[in-house]
Amino acid sequence: MSPKFPTSPKPPTPSKFILRHLTALALTLALPLPIFAAPEAARTVADTAPIAPDPKAEAFVNDLLARMTLSEKLGQMSQIALNQTPTGADVDDRIRKGEVGSFLFTTDAARISRLQHLAVEHSRLHIPLIFGFDVIHGFRTIYPVPIALAASWDPKQAERAQNMAAREASAVGVNWTFAPMLDIARDPRWGRMMEGAGEDPYLGSRMAEAQVRGFQGEHIGEPGHILACIKHFVGYGAAAGGRDYEEANISDEQLENVYLPPFHAAVNAGAGSLMSAYMDLNGVPATGNHWLLHDVLRERWHFSGFVVSDWESVQSLSTHGFSSGPADAAARAVNAGVDMEMTSSVYHDDLPAAVNDSTVKQATIDDAVRDILLAKYRLGLFQNPYVDVSRAPSQLVTAEQRTAARSVAASTAVLLRNQGNLLPLSKSLHTIALIGPLTDSKPDTMGSWSLAGHYEDTVTVLEALRKRFPASVAIHSTKGVEIDRGAPTIFDAQFQSPKPTLKTDEARESEFRHAIDLVKQSEVAVLVLGEQQSMSGERASRSSLKLPGQQQELLEAAVATGKPVVLVLLNARPLDITWASEHVPSILEVWYPGTEGGNAVADLLFGDANPGGHLPFAWPRSVGQIPINYARNLTQIPDDPDHRYWDSSSLPLYPFGYGLTYTSFTLGHLKQAAPSARSGSTLAVSVDVTNTGKSAGDQVLQLYTHQRSGSASRPIRELKGFQRVTLKPGETRTVTLSLDTNQLSFWSSQTHTRSIEPDTFDLWVGTDANASDHSIFTVTE
Ligand code: BGC
Repeated sequence: MSPKFPTSPKPPTPSKFILRHLTALALTLALPLPIFAAPEAARTVADTAPIAPDPKAEAFVNDLLARMTLSEKLGQMSQIALNQTPTGADVDDRIRKGEVGSFLFTTDAARISRLQHLAVEHSRLHIPLIFGFDVIHGFRTIYPVPIALAASWDPKQAERAQNMAAREASAVGVNWTFAPMLDIARDPRWGRMMEGAGEDPYLGSRMAEAQVRGFQGEHIGEPGHILACIKHFVGYGAAAGGRDYEEANISDEQLENVYLPPFHAAVNAGAGSLMSAYMDLNGVPATGNHWLLHDVLRERWHFSGFVVSDWESVQSLSTHGFSSGPADAAARAVNAGVDMEMTSSVYHDDLPAAVNDSTVKQATIDDAVRDILLAKYRLGLFQNPYVDVSRAPSQLVTAEQRTAARSVAASTAVLLRNQGNLLPLSKSLHTIALIGPLTDSKPDTMGSWSLAGHYEDTVTVLEALRKRFPASVAIHSTKGVEIDRGAPTIFDAQFQSPKPTLKTDEARESEFRHAIDLVKQSEVAVLVLGEQQSMSGERASRSSLKLPGQQQELLEAAVATGKPVVLVLLNARPLDITWASEHVPSILEVWYPGTEGGNAVADLLFGDANPGGHLPFAWPRSVGQIPINYARNLTQIPDDPDHRYWDSSSLPLYPFGYGLTYTSFTLGHLKQAAPSARSGSTLAVSVDVTNTGKSAGDQVLQLYTHQRSGSASRPIRELKGFQRVTLKPGETRTVTLSLDTNQLSFWSSQTHTRSIEPDTFDLWVGTDANASDHSIFTVTE
């Protein structure tokens, strides 16, 4: 793979390879025929109905298409990466000739404007460019990482964050984000868990829809919004061993019931583009996978947007041992359904010959170009292609953005432990020790994929505390230990955590002792530990979940002083905190909280915000428990789930959906509107929730179901509804969760269909996956 930020695009090379026909491919990839029929009364769930085309848009695009040369068409299908170095003359020339349709990594408004003027005013057909960028959790103002947004269990917060991010990106002329990432991740060794919504397809689907709405608004082209790109289709999160880019082998059952649903939900929510994944899915590269990109995406789901490859993933079809060379790679990708090639140039180089010898049909090219032009049309680029360069700076890191970033960050924190109600801390403390390598690191407060963010905008925990308290309050702060990934990252040139400065053992020991001395001199110690931003994200997989470096030793030494210790975690995967869960009174997971992260953490520590987030994954005790997702099937010796290992508990440290608050809640009076529901209808389930504590706080009500029998075994519990509510002290509210029985449908590996099978179901409502308020309902035909 070439560097993430090439300084100039690759010049075109002549085509060298003779292409092969792919007639056998669709047959090879087709699903086996059903072996068993669905149970008599099962209601087969139909796939999505096609979205009505817009005749005006179609007519416009078809007219344009009829006037385009093959070279111009391939230009629309080509995306070039540009970083912030000056645009070379060859790029200008390609724009004039209509040989490029899109750029990525161009975030400077003036540069975007210059390139767009060139395309619209100096290319033969005046087709505007589309500018893509990884707006993953904010643009200039950085919001909490996506796994944190999922931990809010509040789709409105996720929508708000992405809406604010879209506003900033669109202000500089970026009109397309490579987000949201919808990969289900059940292996926290995989670094990109950070970019998704965790382990669960239901939570993942709701977060997917919310983020698509946030980026795109009510419809594609709404001012202040940008095009979403759902990625990586599909199965990337199941990389073998959690090793980034490795192949994924996923059973049809898991693919249909776990990995595909968030994508399907996002397609139904109107996502305008989709990115194919890097890896092999069950032996076929996702970027050359006709079954995925055509049969599932187009035929079954009627996706009407366009498909972009991942970075060089068209060209690298040969690396997989799938295509025989660049020309074959180009033909296979476009025939599978990849409309635009990201950064490699085999479409440009090799598709002319392929069209010439009919390896690729002209109609296939036209379909790809039509999808791309329609997206540009829907975005309004043909009517209004230009960004207002003079207005752009005033739209970035505004007070409104900061306020939103701070409150979204506070809403994502998860309180994991709070012995003796140590948190919130008293506002009348006189001495606080703030210790750890992440207390004052701006990049590590922002998190990975913050490429357009600026360090100087970011507020660290130390800065926030210093600002919050008068000089009379002593905030003793030091790192205690340093951490370093010790290996290069793909973003090194753009974005770096502080490098270690303590070069000798003596210096390191002295710093450690100094930190512990500061703890001894203080009334309370807050340790800000976790992982540097580069330890999560792309090419950031780990083989261990331990706190990196000597952080565990630092934590143990701080606790050994006898002072009350609060552990604040900055990270984006569950770490091995089993010791801390028994010895550290308070543990607050704040993820990578973003530009206003320090202020949000200070709000949480001192009770100006009350943690209300819940875990979007089950938290393992150690790396050996992976995978430990809650939705699993029950088998032999069901009443002893804790002894599947003889050398450790087989239960997670914290269950999926878990989270505490500074107040307390009781639940009661679980009621169903009826004992049964017709298949396809909705069953109202209500529960009374009371805030029994002394402060206002949030609780997340979660509804789980279990199908007792059917054509296949069903998971012991599956999330099927949730709602986050805010209650004043003493307040009781009846919360109604609507159980849509369509959500009970599943794809059975026995019937090879998705259906709702009439049966008896268990139902639980509670505040995590161990919810105990139980009832039973039946689904009838
Ligand atoms: C990543 C994508 C990303 C693209 C462009 C790839 O390496 O896998 O998620 O959108 O680069 O930055």
